[in-house]
Amino acid sequence: MVIFSMWVLLHLLLVSSITQCSGTSNKSQEIFRHCRDEEKLSISLCSPIIEDINQYPKLYTDRIHDPMYYQNLEKLCQEAKGCVSDLNCSEANALRKDIDKVCSYSLFFYAENQKCLQKFHQKAYVANKTEDSSCYGKFPILQKDMDKKRNVFMEGKDCFMNHVEENCNDTSKKFFVKSYKYLVEYMTNKPGIRTCDPYHMFLKQECMGIFSELIETANTQVGILDLMISWFASGWFFRISDICDDAQDCFRQNECSGLFSNISEGIEKACNAINNRTYF
Ligand SMILES: *[C@@H]1O[C@H](CO)[C@@H](O)[C@H](O)[C@H]1NC(C)=O
Ligand SMILES: *[C@@H]1O[C@H](CO)[C@@H](O)[C@H](O)[C@H]1NC(C)=O
Ligand SMILES: *[C@@H]1O[C@H](CO)[C@@H](O)[C@H](O)[C@H]1NC(C)=O
Ligand SMILES: *[C@@H]1O[C@H](CO)[C@@H](O)[C@H](O)[C@H]1NC(C)=O
Ligand SMILES: *[C@@H]1O[C@H](CO)[C@@H](O)[C@H](O)[C@H]1NC(C)=O
Ligand SMILES: *[C@@H]1O[C@H](CO)[C@@H](O)[C@H](O)[C@H]1NC(C)=O
Repeated sequence: MVIFSMWVLLHLLLVSSITQCSGTSNKSQEIFRHCRDEEKLSISLCSPIIEDINQYPKLYTDRIHDPMYYQNLEKLCQEAKGCVSDLNCSEANALRKDIDKVCSYSLFFYAENQKCLQKFHQKAYVANKTEDSSCYGKFPILQKDMDKKRNVFMEGKDCFMNHVEENCNDTSKKFFVKSYKYLVEYMTNKPGIRTCDPYHMFLKQECMGIFSELIETANTQVGILDLMISWFASGWFFRISDICDDAQDCFRQNECSGLFSNISEGIEKACNAINNRTYF
């Protein structure tokens, strides 16, 4: 249901950006003439494919782990691009841009892509916290200044691609190489209103990165004896309590219409127990 409402929103976003693009085109885009009536007709014949792309993640939410999810969606995206490829006029160009953007977003739903991004954020989070000098530490997760964040992502492209190269599937590699500019756009345009939209799907992966670190840190302490020793000796308690705070902050900041409420509630409970020292 949440996914569905997100898709309604995305659709509205798509339609409004089509009208915006043709309205606010700047000089470099104004070279394109307006489409003739027969070209507009061709464009309207392409719209069912775009509608299919819009619907796709909603229809296949239970199949985001299936490589066929990715392959079939990519086929649809190729088809949509092919449909407008012969047209060279402003509305067709605006539509081409929107197809790219919607496809990037839809393909991101493929579970491997989400995992790949999440893993990156986890590395970035740990590197920044531990003041590790690797390039990953330059991507702080709780960065609220979106201009600074955009700069980091523009300057850190090689760092990100290096992570993708070493940690992600071929499919994900291809995806992130092709969609990096949309990734940056989604990661650095925090919407002002608290509704769920595409941006939240990307921002969520940052919080999931901290969450993974929380789980991994918690799991490093297997026995109670270990736990007690490290509790007092190695600062484990302060470390996990710190990660708890960051995870809660992150989910709170990016909350939208209860999209992450289950996971936030789980974190809240676990972290309260840790902070109240009622862990065991
Ligand atoms: C014109 O559009 C391009 C890309 O579409 C953008 O990079 C550039 O900043 C725009 N220029 C102005 C003056 O808006
Ligand atoms: C589209 O038209 C513009 C001029 O309006 C031209 O410069 C450009 O090369 C054309 N592109 C294609 C792919 O035909
Ligand atoms: C961690 O992020 C902060 C905030 O942007 C930054 O100033 C700092 O240099 C980062 N730390 C490392 C080790 O890169
Ligand atoms: C992608 O990589 C993961 C391990 O990171 C593996 O479990 C999975 O099967 C791979 N998927 C594909 C489609 O290659
Ligand atoms: C929360 O979890 C319950 C069951 O565990 C599930 O039915 C519900 O859809 C989840 N809500 C969200 C917003 O994910
Ligand atoms: C733990 O502390 C929080 C406030 O930090 C409080 O709201 C909660 O009720 C406490 N939980 C328990 C089990 O004592």
